Amino acid sequence: MKLVHKTILTTILFSPFSVLAEPHPGKVLFDEANCMKCHSTMGFNKPSLKKMAPDNYQDLQGAVAYCDQNLNVGWFDDEREKVVDYLNKTYYQFPQ
Ligand code: HEC
Repeated sequence: MKLVHKTILTTILFSPFSVLAEPHPGKVLFDEANCMKCHSTMGFNKPSLKKMAPDNYQDLQGAVAYCDQNLNVGWFDDEREKVVDYLNKTYYQFPQ
């Protein structure tokens, strides 16, 4: 009984860490598409960026789709959504 209890507790305690250790799937796609070639200097969500300047989640989806299409990355919709989610969590924090 005691051992079972401990196993359950260990699972509960350690599973969130193993999730955190995995990179966000959107970050993997983002890195592979070499987005930082331009955005390492330009950044995201900076006052100096005025062309798209997304101010809600839908705008951010549009901005990602714009660069994706221009660069011919060829992401599927679900892949693009992962990148939007990654950028939102990292730079924008828009409510969905
Ligand atoms: C060839 C250079 C280049 C590359 C590579 C590039 N972008 Fe962009 N991106 C731009 C430019 C230029 C803007 C507009 C910046 C401004 O407002 O002046 C922009 C704007 C954005 C914005 C809006 C930024 C903001 O806060 O205003 C997002 C989001 C974005 N890009 C996502 C991506 C993603 C995702 C990729 C990888 C697929 C990518 N970009 C790759 C040039 C690039």
